[in-house]
Order: sequence, then structure tokens, then C-alpha cells
Amino acid sequence: MEKCFVMLKPGVINRRIAGEIISRLERKGLRLIGIKMMVISGELAAKHYQEHNGKSFYDYLISYITSGPVIVMVWAADDCIMLIRKLVGTTAVQDAVPGTIRGDFCLHTPHNIIHASDSPESGERETALFFRPEEIIPWTDELAQWF
Ligand code: PPS
Repeated sequence: MEKCFVMLKPGVINRRIAGEIISRLERKGLRLIGIKMMVISGELAAKHYQEHNGKSFYDYLISYITSGPVIVMVWAADDCIMLIRKLVGTTAVQDAVPGTIRGDFCLHTPHNIIHASDSPESGERETALFFRPEEIIPWTDELAQWF
């Protein structure tokens, strides 16, 4: 089963929309197997966004992501990454379709409020970066047959 690392970025908690966003992922039928609130250190942020180091928006991205508490999660399902990225919507707010998370809640691309892994390899790498193995709880889903 595929894992997708998801982060609700700074501002989501302040805006009281964390529950709404988590609810959208739950209603899809995805399985939440890890969740916690934290403040990301500069060091962890740099590791997470290492592939973007050197890009024009990198410094802003790091300062934004470390500016307040975030909620980090790991979700699991077959094709979890593709399904979550469809629910999340596109990065550029002008292209984010209403009905998607970014389409409904984001005004500016630099404050796009949610991160989701873009490949199974990223899902594994990012999960290992933010969670200890014992913090991942792959519970048995009695309702799986209905989804
Ligand atoms: S790229 O260049 O295509 O690799 O960039 P992309 O994958 O679209 O975005 C990588 C992450 O950078 C964030 N981003 C920005 N932050 C600040 N300012 C601007 N202009 C900007 N453009 C993109 C984008 O939200 C991605 O972060 P995550 O957390 O992965 O969504």
C-alpha cells in the first residue's frame, strides 16, 4: 500500500481549517496512519526541500514553512499519492480548480497551505524525515471492503 506524506502548512491552524482539510482526505476513504503537530526547524526544512535549493522561491519557502506550527500526516491507500494530489489541486493558485483544497482555500501560490508527496519514493523519504517508525500506526481497516 502506498504512503503519502502530507503537511498542513503554517496558517492552517490559525485559520481553523485543519479539520475541514483532514475531513476531505478521510471522506475519500484514505487511511490516516500518522499525525502530529510540530514547528519545523530550519535544518529539517532544508532537508525536506533540498531539491528546491537554489530556486528563486527557496528562501521564502523555508521562512514560510518554519514560521509557525504545522500538522504533518501520513496517509495510506492504493494509489494514495495520485488520489491526494487530485484532492489538493495544482500548485499555482490561478490553475487550482474550485473544489480542490488549494482551489478553495489559497489566494497566493507562495502560501499554498498544503504539501503532498509527489512520488512513492518521496512518500517514503518524507515519512522517514518527519516520523519515527513507532509513530506510524498501520491499523486494520474493517471498512476497507466498502471503499
Ligand atoms: S518546481 O519549480 O516545479 O519544482 O516547483 P514546484 O514543485 O511547483 O514547487 C515546489 C515547492 O515550492 C513551492 N513554491 C513556491 N513557494 C514560494 N513562492 C513561490 N513562488 C513558489 N512556487 C512554488 C510549492 O508550493 C512547492 O511546495 P510544496 O510544499 O511541495 O507544495
